[in-house]
Amino acid sequence: MTPNQIQLVQATFAQLVPIATTVADLFYGRLFEIAPHVRPMFPKDRTEQKEQLMGMLRAAVTGLDNLDTLVPAASALGRRHAGYGVKAQHYVLVGSALLWTLEIALAHTFTSEVKDAWASAYILLWTTMTDAANERPMAA
Ligand code: HEM
Repeated sequence: MTPNQIQLVQATFAQLVPIATTVADLFYGRLFEIAPHVRPMFPKDRTEQKEQLMGMLRAAVTGLDNLDTLVPAASALGRRHAGYGVKAQHYVLVGSALLWTLEIALAHTFTSEVKDAWASAYILLWTTMTDAANERPMAA
């Protein structure tokens, strides 16, 4: 990611913080519409779901300009996700629901440049998380 892309993701994330509940409703509504089969993976408590989404977005944002910290944190997150039953194909669905949500929530601020920046951030996290989840201990 370029420094400009990092700045765009961080600046647009700041716009989402005050409307976090709406953003979460949009995201989970969209995710469960395009992928109803993932619903049972998430906690039933809607408040918890909302906190997790903001956790996810925050993870995408805070570490971007500090990869030394981001990579181990995303790797650990990826291993926890493997434990939640998350598979590679789920990342495509979540990424699609995320970009759809950002388009609605950011409205006119969601330029193609902003979209590319968020897509890059998501792909960075996704690859780091799945690489770690796919690690196998070395055979003895
Ligand atoms: C870049 C991608 C993602 C990020 C940054 C992310 C981030 C997070 C965070 C921060 C949590 C809170 C719990 C923890 O820290 O372990 C969480 C929980 C969770 N995530 Fe993700 N996530 C991502 C992708 C996905 C995908 C693709 C799925 C599959 C549908 C998924 C399903 C879940 C579930 C089921 C939980 C909650 C488990 C529970 O509370 O029982 N996540 N995620």
